[in-house]
Amino acid sequence: MARRSRGLPVPLLDGFDASGRSGDGASLLARLHARLRKAILDGALMPGGALPASRRLAEDAGLSRNTVEAVYDQLEAEGFIERRHGSGSFVSVDLPERELAPAYAPRAGSARPATTGLSKRGELMAQPYGGEGPLAGRAFLPSVPALDLFPRQLWARLLARAARAPGPDHLGAGDRAGFRPLREAIAAYVGSTRAVACQPDQVVVLTSSQQAIDLACRLLTDPGDTVWHEEPGYRAAAAAFVASGAQVVPVPVDGEGIDVAAGIRLAPDARLVYVSPSHQFPTGVAMSLSRRLQLLAWAARTGAFIIEDDYDSEFRYVGRPLAALQGLDEAGRVVYVGTFNKLMFPGLRLAYLVAPPELAERFVAARVLMDGHTSTLPQAALADFIGEGHLGTHLRHMRTVYEERRQALVDAVAGLAGRLTLGPTDGGMHACAYLPAGADDVAIAAAARRLGIELRPLSTSFRGPARPGFIMGFAAARPAEIRGAVDRLARLLEN
Ligand SMILES: Cc1ncc(COP(=O)(O)O)c(C=O)c1O
Repeated sequence: MARRSRGLPVPLLDGFDASGRSGDGASLLARLHARLRKAILDGALMPGGALPASRRLAEDAGLSRNTVEAVYDQLEAEGFIERRHGSGSFVSVDLPERELAPAYAPRAGSARPATTGLSKRGELMAQPYGGEGPLAGRAFLPSVPALDLFPRQLWARLLARAARAPGPDHLGAGDRAGFRPLREAIAAYVGSTRAVACQPDQVVVLTSSQQAIDLACRLLTDPGDTVWHEEPGYRAAAAAFVASGAQVVPVPVDGEGIDVAAGIRLAPDARLVYVSPSHQFPTGVAMSLSRRLQLLAWAARTGAFIIEDDYDSEFRYVGRPLAALQGLDEAGRVVYVGTFNKLMFPGLRLAYLVAPPELAERFVAARVLMDGHTSTLPQAALADFIGEGHLGTHLRHMRTVYEERRQALVDAVAGLAGRLTLGPTDGGMHACAYLPAGADDVAIAAAARRLGIELRPLSTSFRGPARPGFIMGFAAARPAEIRGAVDRLARLLEN
């Protein structure tokens, strides 16, 4: 334990352990620096006040003089103290971080306690995230592909090749809109597979669909503006809309997708609409052509924008894949969003949006403000993955695998005779399963977890009165795992 320093008017060194065994891993230098800095910021060491000579403090604290000298030098460089040759060290009169003091050490009676010091926007953004904790099993994780079947060796080779590429393209600051060859590959890919009408200049490479949705909402709405959201719908999108200050209006989804007439009735002056027309999340319904045309006509008339979240349309097991809404849009109202995080693996963090031509540069400018641009090497590897045909091969493989898994789920749930009923299973990586009215899907999902079954309660996808059920991902688990999990679930539902 250090003795109290004679030059310091406060118990500055009380409890200071100079043995170097603080347990928090910080060096002596860092801890002494933090101690003095805090004392200055808290006002315990007053502006203009003298600090003890470094030799004296070193003796009192049981430290080497070099350590104290180094701490004083650092505090001086940061503007906390002034060192005057021949007369000593003094707390700066003009403190740079004086204004920040309450944030370091909230004082009694301060208006904003530290835990609620967020701005109004911050409160909306920082809603506690309902993470589900450690996973109980692969059945029925939604949004998770068959990770064990991803061609890792090939991906590793493409990454290594990108890392070795000569020239500044791969290691220098990249194109802010995204690695050009990747944007070209994406434009060609969505053009041919999704009938999306776009030039590479309209493609903005991002980290996630979530980033695209957040960015679109911030750019296209003002706080207080109304946004139509599918009911039931994708919670993460709704959370982004709420966070940017929008009023979220739930618009019912029926067997043809979002009910456009209901939307117009409920919120005719909406500025933005979120839809997942190819495979509505979570119901799995495909939006009919007449609804698509109705929505586009309304948006063209009112000037509203539409976010089209095309998150897993690559997987279609019955009939032909449905073309994207964006390809029907002649008025430039659709922001198309696609992601590789579900097609390949969630840790990839590569997605994109296709902006209306006149907005593309504005989207890039706004994205640069958030985090510059996406890391270049994975983009380069992905450009090759697509360009050399590996994405196509992988998707064909996964379509076969997922179709088998989907069938396993359909067959197994058929045995539950009315206790659980599946919605459409024509495409995607999950199915929506309905429980009888009045069932408590949250409680059943919690009980299922204890049996090693992952179920997302459907009720959490509603903002208004909910229908109970589950979102059941079938892509991550093998058919035998799916059958076993449905058996266990059947016993649970019986009880
Ligand atoms: C409706 C929907 N959109 C998008 C995504 C993909 O998300 P991201 O690219 O943000 O990981 C998911 C995956 O969970 C989803 O369910």
